[in-house]
Amino acid sequence: MESEILLSAQNISHSFYLSKTASVRALDKLSFEIRRGEIYGLVGESGSGKSTAARCVMNLVKPQSGHIFYEGVDITDPKQFGANKRLLQTSRQMIFQDSTSSLNGRMKVADIIAEPMRIAHMAPKRGTYRKEAAFQMKYVGLDEIYLDKYPAELSGGQRQRVAIARALCMEPELLVADEPVASLDVSIQAQIVNLFRHLQDEHGFSFLFIAHDLSMVRYLCDRVGVLLRGKLVEEAPSEELFQNPQHPYTKALLSAMPLPDPIRERNRKLIPFDADTLCSQGVMREVSPGHFVRTEGGETA
Ligand SMILES: Nc1ncnc2c1ncn2[C@@H]1O[C@H](COP(=O)(O)OP(=O)(O)OP(=O)(O)O)[C@@H](O)[C@H]1O
Ligand SMILES: [Mg+2]
Repeated sequence: MESEILLSAQNISHSFYLSKTASVRALDKLSFEIRRGEIYGLVGESGSGKSTAARCVMNLVKPQSGHIFYEGVDITDPKQFGANKRLLQTSRQMIFQDSTSSLNGRMKVADIIAEPMRIAHMAPKRGTYRKEAAFQMKYVGLDEIYLDKYPAELSGGQRQRVAIARALCMEPELLVADEPVASLDVSIQAQIVNLFRHLQDEHGFSFLFIAHDLSMVRYLCDRVGVLLRGKLVEEAPSEELFQNPQHPYTKALLSAMPLPDPIRERNRKLIPFDADTLCSQGVMREVSPGHFVRTEGGETA
């Protein structure tokens, strides 16, 4: 039977060395799981380690310790990675914040979309690579006339759709989206987020979704993990987290979220926080089903 857990990151740590003596600990024994068919959100202030976590999941950064299991394969183990290379290269796809830099400006859209399939020697399901590219473009809401355009001839939202179409060609199981809409304006953001939701509903993709905009995370994600200095301080089903935040850091993050009611919005108080004084030690304790909060005391994890 297929396991319910698609990806499991277990105690991953990673430090970047800035010089011979200085380093920054981007991930600190981070653990989280992504279930099949769920949208898992990672939130946290800038520099909390979200992108590094996403990069570890994609094998773009190798954590210095800890393990990540994907479909039961330890992707941090070079031997297991090598033995399952094809599965790992096709079934995980990443969508970046700024597709301008992730799309080759000298290639036409049709070739950009088909390129990963060509590299992986995947036979196009719909006959030719071009037909496959056209199908995926239509699927993500882009007209076929853009097939022969260059990225510079498209708008930011259209380029992001090209990046999504390219990922979908590979028939992935897991989509890792690192601030995929941050560079777009608000109405286009909503369109792309709705597209993600549609993809999830229709295909049951699993997502690792990273965003600064918490209202988007609330709308899209099934479960959310709150990252502080490279470790989770809280994790809960989305609605539970937004309605009943427990950790002071989560409360501070949520206090920055705009409210739809103008009177409440005017009276909204930002909760300032000083990361140095916040508890990122202690252990994760379950306070209600599926809702975990890091609390001091006990052995550290
Ligand atoms: N390639 C790198 N070299 C050196 N330090 C890095 C590198 N990548 C990340 N870092 C550092 O690791 C820490 C975590 O960075 P990361 O990019 O994962 O944060 P983030 O949560 O994605 O932030 P943001 O919300 O600003 O994108 C930061 O202190 C950052 O400066
Ligand atoms: Mg980032």
